[in-house]
Amino acid sequence: MDTNVLQVKRDGDFYYPIYFKNDFEGLADAIRAEGLNGRNLCIVSDTTVAPLYAEQLKSVLLTVSPSVSLFVFEAGESSKNLNTVQQLYKALIENKHDRKSLIVALGGGVVGDLAGFGAATYLRGIDFIQVPTTLLSQVDSSVGGKTGVDFDQYKNMVGAFHQPRLVYMNLNTLRTLPAEQFACGMGEVLKTGLICDSAFYNFVCENQQKIQELDISLLSSMIRRCCEIKAGVVERDPKEQGERALLNLGHTIGHAIEKLKNFQLLHGQCVAIGLIAAAKISQKRNLLTEEEYQQIVHGCSIYHLPVYVTDLAAEDVLDATKKDKKMEQGQIKFVLMKGIGTSFVDRTVSDDELLYGIQEILR
Ligand SMILES: NC(=O)c1ccc[n+]([C@@H]2O[C@H](COP(=O)([O-])OP(=O)(O)OC[C@H]3O[C@@H](n4cnc5c(N)ncnc54)[C@H](O)[C@@H]3O)[C@@H](O)[C@H]2O)c1
Ligand SMILES: [Zn+2]
Repeated sequence: MDTNVLQVKRDGDFYYPIYFKNDFEGLADAIRAEGLNGRNLCIVSDTTVAPLYAEQLKSVLLTVSPSVSLFVFEAGESSKNLNTVQQLYKALIENKHDRKSLIVALGGGVVGDLAGFGAATYLRGIDFIQVPTTLLSQVDSSVGGKTGVDFDQYKNMVGAFHQPRLVYMNLNTLRTLPAEQFACGMGEVLKTGLICDSAFYNFVCENQQKIQELDISLLSSMIRRCCEIKAGVVERDPKEQGERALLNLGHTIGHAIEKLKNFQLLHGQCVAIGLIAAAKISQKRNLLTEEEYQQIVHGCSIYHLPVYVTDLAAEDVLDATKKDKKMEQGQIKFVLMKGIGTSFVDRTVSDDELLYGIQEILR
């Protein structure tokens, strides 16, 4: 078995591969292996990633494709909207891309979500490939098939499920990623361990130094395990009717903080803070020991993730938490932990319990 490739179920009996590599060269063979060579391609990227990697990627792609066009938009969440999608459609039409064309998303989660949505809707859906370049997009957003954009102030309000034909990671792209962005990805990595794999959680904490030095072999096993876990959850529950909700561990209170802080804190940082609150609530229910709780604080701290937030009022955080879309018939769907590596959805978490967890993360 090639440990650099993970096969993930797309639908029915179809699988697609996720590659964990340290260069772009292997993408040519990966494309051939899926029978996707000979198609016209459009690389979609942002203004930070394109200058770093687009040319390199394009020269590899030209060995398997007759033409490669490039669509670049301004980096950042504020570009993840229908205006940019419209510009993408225009560029696709101008470059005569048809139903057989292939979109290649080169960048972080913003590029992946937007390019994926473009691919899901252009000519009623064309194929696309993910080439994720942030840790967050490698461990989280490039797996699962959710694509979409924000609408007005509402995040991910418009979207579609559309699975990529293949995901190809060049782990060396992480070398140019700012440390803060790397930390954000680690927030999702820690979350993944806490959801369902205590051995993995310990592995991530014990290998902190090598992971932060970007040791490719360790990164590769770490990222692969995250993809495996997420893909497994998604495969069992593609449309989020049950188990997939576990992936929201730390996100319910995390999203509330993200909103109240007007997105000044990064998503992964808010997730870490949300994990601490969820851990405190779990501890109050005697589901976590003090030692386990401290292990979670430790994990976030060693990866330079915040464990508290300043200048917020508990009542405001509670209100924002309850406005989150993870509510079902007035009951909040909250993910709790039972020890490190086991989690479950609970619909009985009371306002008092939420406030107890929220108090823990406010300074
Ligand atoms: N579809 C899903 O299932 C899913 C899951 C989680 C998050 N998301 C979405 O993902 C987005 C966040 O993704 P993100 O954190 O990757 O953000 P991002 O795409 O904005 O990337 C963060 C920043 O890093 C830059 N960057 C990317 N790769 C780089 C590299 N290798 N070197 C230097 N700079 C680089 C980008 O230009 C950007 O400025 C959000 O919009 C979120 O909603 C989607
Ligand atoms: Zn997240």
